[in-house]
Amino acid sequence: MILLTGGAGYIGLHTAAVLVEAGHEVVLFDNFSNSKPAGLKRLEAIIGRAVPCVEGDVRSRQDLDGLFDQYPIGAVVHFAGLKAVGESQAQPLRYYDNNVSGSLALLGAMQRAEVRRIVFSSSATIYGNADSNPIPETAALRPANVYGRSKLMVEDILRDLHAAAPGWSIALLRYFNPVGAHPGGLIGEDPNDIPNNLMPFVTQVAVGRRPELQVFGGDYPTPDGTGVRDYIHVMDLAEGHRAALDWALRDPRELLTANLGTGRGSSVLELVGAFEQASGKAIPHRIVARRAGDVAACWSDPSLARERLGWTATRSLDDMCRDAWNWQRNNPQGFA
Ligand code: NAD
Ligand code: UFG
Repeated sequence: MILLTGGAGYIGLHTAAVLVEAGHEVVLFDNFSNSKPAGLKRLEAIIGRAVPCVEGDVRSRQDLDGLFDQYPIGAVVHFAGLKAVGESQAQPLRYYDNNVSGSLALLGAMQRAEVRRIVFSSSATIYGNADSNPIPETAALRPANVYGRSKLMVEDILRDLHAAAPGWSIALLRYFNPVGAHPGGLIGEDPNDIPNNLMPFVTQVAVGRRPELQVFGGDYPTPDGTGVRDYIHVMDLAEGHRAALDWALRDPRELLTANLGTGRGSSVLELVGAFEQASGKAIPHRIVARRAGDVAACWSDPSLARERLGWTATRSLDDMCRDAWNWQRNNPQGFA
């Protein structure tokens, strides 16, 4: 059985759907600090049966020990954590507690239960302002915010653990910019409050929840002056987790670090154009000042994941926009 911590969240639900369809048994664990139980009902509707979900906190050894005692867990995908960059700068202790202490408690519980296979949700944000694109895994790691530093700390902990106890199989997956939704439109991204990220903001403008998109910066050294990112369809990302789990379940007793991205960069204006095309909706937008902390461009070199995991992203920016819109159009208020 595979444990998905943070399994009720955006990437967790999509990964659960892909893993169950591939024949895995899964158990989800979540404190619902950034997700809703309603998402679980939607997952059930997709896969045709209920999936066990335990409510608990990844910082609680008591919750975790009970979970490992109750289920025959053979591997863990560790999604649980907080992810809002701006909030992390304002609340560093909360972020280090959830992301770092939470990971430490989980690893302690895994050690006790003798489960030594883990796939960890890392982030391209740990590269910070990279010297050049595409970014390989060997690039310097210099995160520019608390969130990114919390992810790098967990990566360091896992590298130290692997050096000390080589029986572990550990995959560090560095996601680029996950967007889109399951094609059935039952699950998707449902941010609380005002979305920080581009795609959910665009879909909320399209559905009439927000009047216009602010484009943060039109004077970057990019082809159209707007920021360039490596958007990856969340279903491709979910399939990347399936590939990483299959790798971990073969017990390679290695630590593998892999970018999950498409290897292609798209600008803000390109994404807006693709979304307008896919949805038939105009997205009113206005170029405003740059957002503090943003880099001009960031896209992955995804070749290592292809070579080592046999995984490659297959979905296009048009697919991402179509599926993001399908989700938002069918669920204007998200899971609410
Ligand atoms: P999400 O917020 O939708 O999902 C995270 C889930 O973890 C939520 O359901 C939340 O309730 C749960 N959670 C948080 N703290 C917890 C705790 N202490 N105990 C138990 N559950 C807890 O976010 P997501 O987009 O699905 O991201 C999943 C992981 O991927 C996170 O670790 C995130 O940092 C990482 N990541 C996300 C992105 C992105 O852009 N979405 C990019 C790179 C990395
Ligand atoms: N942008 C806008 N307007 C908005 C929101 C975003 O113009 O309202 C622009 C940004 O300036 C940037 C691009 O859209 O150029 C993408 O911004 P996002 O906030 O969607 O994504 P980021 O690349 O800033 O960061 C995201 C996650 C991080 C994660 C990183 C991985 O927020 O947690 O991707 O690459 F680490």
